[in-house]
Amino acid sequence: MIEELYTSDQMELRDRARDLAETVIRPAAARYDAEQTYPWEFQTAIKDAGLSGVWLPQEYGGLGGGVLDLCIVVEEFSRACGGMGVCYAVNATGSLPLLLGGTDEQKERWLPGIAAGEDLIAFGLSEKESGSDAGSMTTRAVRDGDRYILNGEKKWNSIGSVASLNTIFAVTDPLQGSRGISALVVERGTPGYTVGKHEDKLGIRCMPVVETHFEDCRVPAGNLLGGSEGLGFGLAMSTLDRARPGIAAQAVGLAQGALDLTLDYTHGRKQFGQSISSFQGVQWMLADMATRIEGARQLVHATARAIDMGARGITRTSAMCKLLATEVAMKVTTDCVQLFGGYGYCKDYPIEKYMRDAKITQIYEGTNQIQRLVIGRSLVRDTGGR
Ligand code: CAA
Repeated sequence: MIEELYTSDQMELRDRARDLAETVIRPAAARYDAEQTYPWEFQTAIKDAGLSGVWLPQEYGGLGGGVLDLCIVVEEFSRACGGMGVCYAVNATGSLPLLLGGTDEQKERWLPGIAAGEDLIAFGLSEKESGSDAGSMTTRAVRDGDRYILNGEKKWNSIGSVASLNTIFAVTDPLQGSRGISALVVERGTPGYTVGKHEDKLGIRCMPVVETHFEDCRVPAGNLLGGSEGLGFGLAMSTLDRARPGIAAQAVGLAQGALDLTLDYTHGRKQFGQSISSFQGVQWMLADMATRIEGARQLVHATARAIDMGARGITRTSAMCKLLATEVAMKVTTDCVQLFGGYGYCKDYPIEKYMRDAKITQIYEGTNQIQRLVIGRSLVRDTGGR
């Protein structure tokens, strides 16, 4: 990280997040990975450190930091545990539709609880048959007086089992395609809203990923984001434009954390009478990793800055930073395991977890194939093609 590029407030935020990562996250990471349970002590520590809702405006109790500050914190958390990094980041994804499209009354109702760390908020877009093709969802919301009757199920609902709020996308007008999709905030405890299957995952195992079911679930009409039907798909896409840098920051943190461990290991590991870090072949691998990580970090941060400045047309750059950073994370963590040799393949060392955690970053918040589709489409459109 080139420290001179950041304000003293951002450096202070980074140090606070790093301190929490070293004292709370790192010592607990392997245990939560093994147990596959939600790290409530981490959630409490975030609240105590005043790091909840970094990305939310101060008028709602947030730190007013925007996407760049979110990325700085997520990177530090993910350096110690990619699972806890994303446990934090998904709250930004869940709350962004509300921030971008909610009425003043809706923001005042829900954002302060999220900013205070009292409420966790999930993002319910994907379904069993609707992943990359998000517009093909079938979960249905039908207006009935002052309620919407919600029926259907969501898949890959990150923190869905522990969140008190869930931003759910549902079809309100099946004849309108993606223009007939709306977004509703559904509160835990609403009759007809239940949590189903818990996924048993390769990585990020401390973050619960579940199915959520809605059966004649009566949601107050006042929970319809923006107060108008049909805004949902655009809100989901605008959210992903702003949330993908957070996942890219998770990937940068994972890669940096793996490189840190690998530097230590290669200094201490002696073969042929010397530290393996003294071999040029190893140094070139370390150099490639560090260069890739810094390149990814700078694109993530430039994208986040552009978003915070209100720049238009951030869709392409957001997809680029998610694509680049997550490919870097997979390459770097795999090479780190290689440098640990046989030990790297075993759970006695923390490095294999980084590789497992990195894999999902290439898949969620839009697979990297979808990022390429978004980038490719925008390139062709902006240069006069179709
Ligand atoms: N911002 C605002 N509006 C947008 C937009 C954007 N970035 N991209 C598209 N739209 C609008 C379009 O303007 C269009 O609106 P109109 O009909 O009014 O003209 C509408 O959305 C449909 O656009 P497209 O025709 O381009 O839509 P498409 O169906 O061809 O493709 C897609 C869209 C980019 C492939 C999209 O479906 C997509 O991003 N898929 C991936 C889904 C995804 O990322 N899922 C992640 C789940 S969340 C998750 O993983 C979180 C977690 O748990 C950690």
